[in-house]
Parts: sequence; C-alpha cells; structure tokens
Amino acid sequence: MKPASPIEKRINYLRDEIRRHDRLYYVDSRPEISDSEYDRLFRELETLERENQGFASGDSPTRRVAGGLSEGLGKVSHSVPMLSLANTYSADEVEEWIARVERLTGGEKKDFVVEPKIDGVSCALIYERGSLARAATRGDGETGEDVTPNVKTVRSVPLAVENSALLPARLEVRGEIYIDKEDFARLNDALAAEGKEMPFANPRNAASGSLRQKDPSVTARRRLKFLAHSAGEGSEAFASHSRFLASVAAAGIPSVKARIISTADGVMRYIRDAESNRDAYPFEIDGMVVKLDSVQQRSRLGSTARQPRWAIAYKFAARRAVSKINKIVFQVGRTGVVTPVAEIEPVAVGGVVISRATLHNFDEVKRLGVSEGDTVSVERAGDVIPKIIKVEQKAPSAVEVVPPVKCPACGSDVVREENEVAYRCVNPSCPQQLERSLAHFASRDAMNIEGMGEAVVAQLVAKKLVSDYSDIFGLKEDDLLGLELFKEKRAQNLLAAVEQSKSRPLSKLTYALGIRNVGEKTARVLADNFRDLNRLSSASKDELSSIREIGPAIAESVVNFFSQSQTRSLLAKLKKAGVNTVEPQNERVSDIFAGKTVVFTGELDGFTRAEAEAEVRKRGGEPSSAVSKKTGMVVTGANPGSKYAKALKLGVKVVDGSEFAEMLSEEFRKR
Ligand code: IVH
Repeated sequence: MKPASPIEKRINYLRDEIRRHDRLYYVDSRPEISDSEYDRLFRELETLERENQGFASGDSPTRRVAGGLSEGLGKVSHSVPMLSLANTYSADEVEEWIARVERLTGGEKKDFVVEPKIDGVSCALIYERGSLARAATRGDGETGEDVTPNVKTVRSVPLAVENSALLPARLEVRGEIYIDKEDFARLNDALAAEGKEMPFANPRNAASGSLRQKDPSVTARRRLKFLAHSAGEGSEAFASHSRFLASVAAAGIPSVKARIISTADGVMRYIRDAESNRDAYPFEIDGMVVKLDSVQQRSRLGSTARQPRWAIAYKFAARRAVSKINKIVFQVGRTGVVTPVAEIEPVAVGGVVISRATLHNFDEVKRLGVSEGDTVSVERAGDVIPKIIKVEQKAPSAVEVVPPVKCPACGSDVVREENEVAYRCVNPSCPQQLERSLAHFASRDAMNIEGMGEAVVAQLVAKKLVSDYSDIFGLKEDDLLGLELFKEKRAQNLLAAVEQSKSRPLSKLTYALGIRNVGEKTARVLADNFRDLNRLSSASKDELSSIREIGPAIAESVVNFFSQSQTRSLLAKLKKAGVNTVEPQNERVSDIFAGKTVVFTGELDGFTRAEAEAEVRKRGGEPSSAVSKKTGMVVTGANPGSKYAKALKLGVKVVDGSEFAEMLSEEFRKR
C-alpha cells in the first residue's frame, strides 16, 4: 500500500476531528471548540476535498450538507412495518396492562424498559456494514418518504458508526428526530426576525417541517437531533431491547435513556416521577413508554395489525385549556420592558389553576389577533409562565390592543427602541422596575434571601425603605416591624437571611445585579474567569470577548453596566455593607464520594460537565472519563454514550442526573 500523502493525511485528520467535535457537541453536549473554530475546520476540509477529488468519501462530514436539492421526497416501503403504540392517559390502565402482561407470560421473571416518549418525528435509519445507507420517515407505517440527504445533515446521526462489529451487517435503527426546546425557541425567534415564515406551533412541527425540506441545507441549519428507540430490520440480532439500546449506543448512535424495572410498583413510580419532572428533559416529551424487554417474551404476546401488545405509552395530562380573557394589563419588568398580560377566567391546565397568561410582547398580540373578551387556548409548560397560544373565538365587539404611551406604573414615557420588539419605560427609577429588580436580586438563584418575595419587596419600595440593592443591607428591625404582617420573629428571620446572603459567591452577586444579557450561566463564567468584582468591573470589551463563552453582545452589556456612575456608587455601597465580592476557591463540602471515581455520560440537567465534576471533587471524589470495574459510580444524563452500556455490562452502579442532584442535596442549591 502506498503511504498516505500529506494532503490525504490532513484530509483524514480533519474528517476525524470534525466527527469528534460533532460527537462532543451533539451527543456528549460538551463542545471543546467554538462554532467559528468548527467552521474553520469544516471549510478547510471542503476546500481540500474540492481540490483533491481523488480522496472523496461518502462518509465525509462534508457530505452532510449535500449540494442541490433532494430529488423530491421519494417513496420508501418499510420491509418491517412501523407500528404505532397503544396509548392511554390513565395510570390505572398502565397497571392493568402490566397485570395482563404478567398473566400472559405466566409468572416468569421479566423486565420492563421505561423510556421517555419523545415528541418528534419517527425516522428509520438503515446501516449497512456500519454506514448510513438510507433514512425514511414513518409515513403510514408501510410506506414512508426518503429523507436520506436531510438526515445526513443531522449531526447526532453518525454517517459511519464507531464500531461496526457491534451491529449486524444490516440494521434498521428506528428513533425520533427532534429539536431541543432551547433550539426550538431560537429557531422561532430567528424565523420571526426574518419576518418570512410563520413560526412553528411546537417542537414537533418544527422537527417535521425541518426534516421534510426539499433543500437539505435548510435542514442542516435547524439543529435537529436523533435518539434511537427501536429496531426494525435486523432486530433478530438482539435478545432484548436493553441489549439493542446498549449496542447501538456503544456503536456511537445516540439512544434514548431507558430504565430497566422489574416490578409493577417500580414502573408506576417511575412514570409518575417522570411526569412531575417532564420539564427537566431538554426536549419535549409527551409521555412515557413501557416496553417488555425480552424479545422472546415479546413474541409470545405478539401484535395487532397496528400495535404491539408488548408496549404501551402512558401520555401525560394535556397542558392546554380553553378560557376567556377578562382583561389585558401591562406589566413593567425589571429592565423596564412593558409586557402585555392576559387576565383570564381561572382554568385548570395540567393540574394547576391559572388566571393569568403572558402575551410576551405587542408583536405577539398582533400575530395572535387577540383582544379582551376573546376565547383563547392557553398552554402551561411546567415552571414556565402560562401563555396564550391561539384565539379560538373572537369577542363580538373586540377592541384592538394598542401599546401604552405612558408607563402604567410611573406615568413616564414608553418608547420602542429601533430594531427592538420591546416597549420600555424610560424612567430608570420607575417603582415597578425597582420592585422587580429587587425581587430578582433576592430570588433563590440570585442572592437567595429567604422571606424577601415580591409582596415584601413591594412594601419596602412603597414605604421608601429601599431604593437600591444596597439599602437591603441597611434594614433594621424597626423598619420591618412597620410593615404589614411583620412580627418580631419574622423580622428577625428576614434580617438573618439578609446577613447570610452577604457571603454568596461572586457568581450569584453578578447574576443578582441584573446586567442585561447576563443570565445565571454567564454570571458563573464571568465569576470563574475574574474571581473578583474589582477585576470584573474594570474588564475591557476585548478581555471579555476573549473568553470563549462570552460573545460581543454580552461583553458590551457588561462594560456598559460597569461604566455607569450609578453602578460604581452601588458597588461601593455593597462593599461597605460587607457583601462578599470574590469567587471562593472550591472547598471541601462533604465526604460522600470520598475515594470514589465518578464517570459522567450524556447531557446532565442543570449542570455543565465541568460543574458536575467540581461538585464531585468538593465531596472527595475523583471525576474520571473511563469506566472500569473499579469505577465507583456512573451518572447518566440524556443521550448517554457507550459508557452507559459499559457500566451496565460491568455491573457498576448507575444513577441518573436527578438522583445525582439529590445526592448533592441542599448544599449545591444553596451554594
Ligand atoms: S417505540 C412499535 N419508543 O411514538 C413501537 N416510540 O405512537 C415502536 N416515540 O411512531 C415505537 N418515543 O415515533 C417508541 N421511546 C419511544 C418513543 C416512541 C417516541 C414515537 C414513535 C412512534 C410513536 C408511537
């Protein structure tokens, strides 16, 4: 064999690097390079391949963005029909189903596999000797559409698997193409900004619309993802569903996170927990799927024409309801943005009664065509503020909603800045802005001052006891005793909470200050990099933008904020009051992981990989990236990789992200 030329070597190197970064980004959720560095690698590879056609390869990452249009969307017939799932909204019916399965399998030992039901688009991938050969939608279950060029742009779908020996020569991996909630919101914002298209109603529609594009380069920009959840052709190679999931994951194809449970009680508990935690998933899920694990036991139960008897989907309660708008009011937020809010006839949505729903902004009011008296659909997604999604019936004499010209709280002018959707109250000392910023400052994820909720803040502002953050630290017992509902005990508790909050780390203080574009995560990045408020407040735009996670818009807001004279006097007052302004070095919190190695795989909720590892170290453990028999524990997030499979094989203790968070308990949340 001829030795590889330098160009060929470079091409191979770039292909491997890009594949590695795709995996880090889409599968492991811990990118090592910025988007622009990635683009640079990608463009270099494109150029080399264009100039050296002899080294072309169908598996090259550049083939993901195929040039030109897909040839229509051709028809594909599924050699193994794609069935759907029996489903129910009733937990009792799931229990009845389990009892029936118990009967039909005659008391044998059995395992159930429980998985999230991802709200996306069903897709069947055919791998031939480890290479992606075809991708098709479900269609009617018998015939689907060929979406191969589009699916090739989905970066979590490997064009070639990492270890083809783990899979049969021809295998149909079925799963869901979906879009993360965050990417969905970003996509809709971008579509709205272009003003060209109607935004998508939900992530499912967004995934489906993006997948079925004639032009794959449109699909490529949509950040779609894939998770495997079942086997079609070639499924005979696996004795159980859990084996299938683990093998596929070990070969580098992301698979759905599944829990193996052997008792009815365990299954019921798990699906109820999942329902109350449904918002913890980075993507929309509409229920949980319970499947019998063993293929042999499955075959004894068989299927009807449309559904297998060995699986059932438990669907979560709907989070939409219909109600009537009584009034539309204008609320002023902490940055002065005036938001229209609908006061509605109280209605139960997903188990909670709501009487207010946001309309976001005045463009949204226009888009929905909504006014007082209308009958509307409302949606509530967990912690998220309920929102109006559609007008079902117009009021007979509807009056158009117009943005206010004066602030409803202070009477100052309300203006709309150029290129902005928002209308803002121009008065920086508007009492409602002040109230909201103070409430934010004291909130749990910021300075965490217990007992200083919105109602207390409103009284403090009304009585003029507090006019900026630093005044909080000068409050006296007598001041508080003058407030409604404040007795000695409550006043003392609040003062103790204020005192305690002085020692929060710089990251919390930075977030609490409410700098535009600086959320919790960015605040942590800033604190980690500067460690001290003096250094942070004198950082230049260049210094800030040289940090990977900080873009020019954030850098600009930070510099702007700290250059204001009000900010400088505020910071001086905070320091004088004894508020901590440094980020402490990690200190030992407990010994719960002492002497143990802990391995993470998949996307954890609520922590970055680096944060989770830091938490382990603080508790005496050692994070590691490889699983062996000696590993103390493997923590799995969404889309766990091959480490999960290996842990199962070696019998290493596995916990999921929420169990891990529980182990860290209060200490972490209070940090
Ligand atoms: S199993 C024969 N598992 O739900 C059963 N399906 O109504 C094959 N879905 O078309 C599917 N998450 O697209 C399975 N964890 C999961 C799923 C899942 C979402 C979709 C799938 C299917 C539909 C069934």
